[in-house]
Amino acid sequence: MKTIAVANQKGGVAKSTTCWEIGTCLKDMGYKVLVIDFDQQSNLTGYVNADRSKPSIYDCLKADASMEDAIQVTEDFDFISASEKLSKADKEFSAPEDIYLLKELLKFIEDDYDFAIVDNSPSRNSLLNMSYIAADFVIIPTECDTGSIDGIDAIYGDLTKYRKINWTNAQVAALILTKFENTAMHTLAYEQLEEKSEEMEEHPFVMKVRKGIKVSESKLAMQSLQRYDHYSNPAFDYRDIAKALVERLGVN
Ligand SMILES: Nc1ncnc2c1ncn2[C@@H]1O[C@H](COP(=O)(O)OP(=O)(O)O)[C@@H](O)[C@H]1O
Ligand SMILES: [Mg+2]
Repeated sequence: MKTIAVANQKGGVAKSTTCWEIGTCLKDMGYKVLVIDFDQQSNLTGYVNADRSKPSIYDCLKADASMEDAIQVTEDFDFISASEKLSKADKEFSAPEDIYLLKELLKFIEDDYDFAIVDNSPSRNSLLNMSYIAADFVIIPTECDTGSIDGIDAIYGDLTKYRKINWTNAQVAALILTKFENTAMHTLAYEQLEEKSEEMEEHPFVMKVRKGIKVSESKLAMQSLQRYDHYSNPAFDYRDIAKALVERLGVN
């Protein structure tokens, strides 16, 4: 099983959308996929219409539920929901070894899945660190504004630090420019991402997802874009990204 953390300290850059779409695309390609909502805001839990009465990842971290108990089968992939109780994580999981909690939990189900995809909150908190430690790869979605592009440096800085002290081997696999429009500003942002990739040891691939109203419409319909409008531009783009990801990760 490969674990992929989707992260950017900026909100609204399409982290949760990216988890949903890539998760669905990988499932449609025949892989076994588990998606975990690791954000106290629980947006993805709402998007996929998960059952909130079931144990959440918070209950698993607290050892009040097993991963098997928390896994829900959705239309698109298997899923573990978030809970607003995750907001207590910084206080509750502050022991040094707690940084390994998510990694340890994932070991229980690693034979059952090809991919685990972890959706993160915009904050740079203990949960985000847990997810870096658990991850083999990180995907960074970003919009074309400076704030979210700067998020790339923050993540790469943290990862480099953690790799040095052997906390993780996680590599950035992809930089994704989301809500792309064919304007000079967006093209410039895309070039900036290519430069950033060059500067990184692991040279992540850079791709874009075109902007489309269907992305928000699909959420109102509680369907992934792959199901809601399979032939829309952003749906195409996410399928291309999923294919590139499989190639990059060397998964059969
Ligand atoms: N390619 C896109 N085109 C148009 N809107 C998008 C696109 N990707 C995401 N959005 C919209 O942007 C908003 C934020 O997306 P979300 O995935 O929740 O971001 P995050 O998880 O980073 O906070 C949502 O309303 C979503 O529908
Ligand atoms: Mg989100």
